[in-house]
Amino acid sequence: MSSSMDVGSRSQRLLPPRPVPEDLDAHLAGFGPRPQIGSMAMIDALDDSGLRGRGGADFPTGVKWRAVMDHTKRDGDAVVIANAAECEPASFKDRFLLTYRPHLVLDGLEHAAEAVGARRVVIYTTRSHSDVVAALRAAIRERRRRDDSDRFIDVQVGPNRYVAGEETALVARVSGHLAKPKVVPPRPFQNGVDHLPTLVQNVETLAHAALIARFGAPWFRSVGTKRSPGTALLTVSGAVRTPGVLEAACDTTVGAIVDRAGGVEGEPAAVLLGGYFGRWVAADRIWNQTIDADALRSVRAHLGTGVLVIAPDTTCGIGETDRVLTFLASQTAGQCGPCHVGLPAIAEMFHQVATGRARPAALDLLVRWSHDVRGRGACRHPDGATLFLASAMEVFAADLRHHLRHGSCRFSGQRSLLPVPATEAGWW
Ligand SMILES: Cc1cc2nc3c(=O)[nH]c(=O)nc-3n(C[C@H](O)[C@H](O)[C@H](O)COP(=O)(O)O)c2cc1C
Ligand code: SF4
Repeated sequence: MSSSMDVGSRSQRLLPPRPVPEDLDAHLAGFGPRPQIGSMAMIDALDDSGLRGRGGADFPTGVKWRAVMDHTKRDGDAVVIANAAECEPASFKDRFLLTYRPHLVLDGLEHAAEAVGARRVVIYTTRSHSDVVAALRAAIRERRRRDDSDRFIDVQVGPNRYVAGEETALVARVSGHLAKPKVVPPRPFQNGVDHLPTLVQNVETLAHAALIARFGAPWFRSVGTKRSPGTALLTVSGAVRTPGVLEAACDTTVGAIVDRAGGVEGEPAAVLLGGYFGRWVAADRIWNQTIDADALRSVRAHLGTGVLVIAPDTTCGIGETDRVLTFLASQTAGQCGPCHVGLPAIAEMFHQVATGRARPAALDLLVRWSHDVRGRGACRHPDGATLFLASAMEVFAADLRHHLRHGSCRFSGQRSLLPVPATEAGWW
């Protein structure tokens, strides 16, 4: 392992210097061939690096690889799935990475397969990300022409539904069932695709792993903080001049990230951090916080999928929350009562508040019902949706009271800030 940092700048490691899709020749010219590392050395490097998953759960990557390896009885029996579902509507970072640096993700996938002992390797994405599917298939063909590896990397597509990116839903779909989450335990590392130990890893996490294999844990830790080392991909949108995907070290402040996105347009009121399972935070509370997990925890936020939406002070936060909550309620997989029945009831009650058709007691009911559904689903869908709601009720408290009385505010009817996609029918 080389300890020198011979690629990228301090904060740009995953993304190429120019937004041009990198083919295999360009990838090899920049990074050289993928190093050969034994399983234990690779997993130790992940542990030392402090890398945590970038798909939203922030789980230590080395711990997960070791758990899969420990459950693999015979070499070749494990399964690795790269999670490229990116079902979070405000996130674009995984598709960006796969479009511009597909080979870095594929390198990480190969390292993962070698480390845990997997012959079966799948990249899972959704039907609606058709550009990414094409880019991935082209990159895999390039490698096959060049490589003598007998490992077959399969690209599978599923529905673009919010909960279909959850890891047990991926495992179900790859096993030939509907893409709906399952009760855990057993977790995929214990009993995954076709009952085999299965590693599910976000594509950004895999790309970081590929760099750690090349440059080592100390290099990875040379930026960021002790708790959140390295860099993260962020999708920045809303009231910024140049919305898009950028990469930042985890000791960068939200204000500095906004500056890198061209600066703020107008006066910022709030920031939605972490996606639709994330939280609204008042802009003045978060502007000088770094995106380190501890710093964000101090304002009860988390980086989640790396989404930052800057809401200007002309935003109707209640209208935005109403649309997103209705969307999240429509995304229930319909398997757990508290989620299937509770979320639509909560979304409907909030809609009544937003449109001035509810009594003041509705606010207490919303809080109580939210508590009632939390922790009572097979997956974290009800938790994510209700914590998002709770943050809106806190940050937009004054607007909420105004809506309750008048059914709108002076910013109602403005252009929408948060994207809400059409729901795909079916779970296949
Ligand atoms: C409802 C729900 C949806 C999820 N959607 C995604 C997704 O689209 N992409 C993703 O990488 N992880 C998603 N996750 C997280 C995965 O379950 C899993 O933790 C992740 O893929 C593991 O990879 P990581 O450790 O590299 O983050 C979702 C989780 C939940 C609860
Ligand atoms: S909690 Fe909701 S989304 Fe998750 S499995 Fe149960 S019904 Fe489906």
